[in-house]
Amino acid sequence: MTDSAKNPTNDSTPRRILTGITTTGIPHLGNYVGAIRPAIQSIQDSDDEAFFFLADYHGIIKCYDPQQIHESTKIIAATWLACGLDPERVTFYRQSDVPEIPELAWVLNCSCAKGLMNRAHAYKASVDANMEKNDVDPDQGITMGLFGYPVLMAADILMFNATHVPVGRDQIQHIEMARDIAGTFNHKYKELFTLPTAMVDDDMPLLTGLDGRKMSKSYGNTIPLFGDNNPQVDAEKQMHKAIMKIVTNSQLPEEAKNPDDSAIFEIYKAFATPAEVAEMRARYESGIGWGEAKEALFDKINSEVAPFRARYNELMANPKELEEILQMGAEKARRHSRKQLDKARRAIGIKPLAKLK
Ligand code: TRP
Repeated sequence: MTDSAKNPTNDSTPRRILTGITTTGIPHLGNYVGAIRPAIQSIQDSDDEAFFFLADYHGIIKCYDPQQIHESTKIIAATWLACGLDPERVTFYRQSDVPEIPELAWVLNCSCAKGLMNRAHAYKASVDANMEKNDVDPDQGITMGLFGYPVLMAADILMFNATHVPVGRDQIQHIEMARDIAGTFNHKYKELFTLPTAMVDDDMPLLTGLDGRKMSKSYGNTIPLFGDNNPQVDAEKQMHKAIMKIVTNSQLPEEAKNPDDSAIFEIYKAFATPAEVAEMRARYESGIGWGEAKEALFDKINSEVAPFRARYNELMANPKELEEILQMGAEKARRHSRKQLDKARRAIGIKPLAKLK
């Protein structure tokens, strides 16, 4: 991990890690390898304080299907817990269960420059797309939610005075904006907010999808981690079937293969030990059939995720247990957020007129 921005936080101050997971879509192997597994592992191996949350108020910015928002929140909560997130160790909550967050977002909106938001990549990309069409309002289809997205994200982070925020490369600008928003508030009113630092993993592998392009929901080329939420279909069989569909070249089984040119090998590397990888490399070089390579890949992935899948199925069948865990997380989160919002309100001049008995 490298910190994208220099932060004066010195080593003796405990780190507070916070990250949000947008509640749209179904987790796939790329999400597992690139985000879920490393986040859970890094917390297990450290003394850092950690806040992980389901960003459902961010989810509704890009998804207008209530059923999908609801289902996806459930699926993502069950996935992270099944993959080993310990809700006793990590404060794990749903953004919408912490009403202080959108309240703080409003307060921050009132001192955040509109010009700062004009420069946000996501917003600019939408405007640029409109400008390419003739006779179209540059802001067509752009909601205030999309425009103000970075302010809500700043509220998520500043609410808990997070020091470190693990994110994908595309989110670095949002963390920079959160620093900017915090600095403005601190300067205008009172030193209240910690300036957060983005943590981006430079050597995180990006998995290739079924069609040879980067594995991504938008390409429809993913391998779902625990199936695609169809109770009629066995998730393990579905994963096997998906792996069998990975595109390969037309080399014959006995021909020597270049492992570094194969999506199957690349995904294998994300699951196997260095010794297993070396052994598999040798098998490619001495000729392995694609069918056999795919079977080996399936076995490798399945041995890691099968126990998680069982727990996932259990949680999905038991939403009450999930809800209890999330409520426990919300209670823990609100112990911080109530105090922090109160401080922010006092700083801007909103407080009781007198103490009533
Ligand atoms: N915008 C982030 C993403 O799309 C999700 C997110 C929302 C987030 N709030 C956050 C990430 C706060 C880190 C911190 O990935």
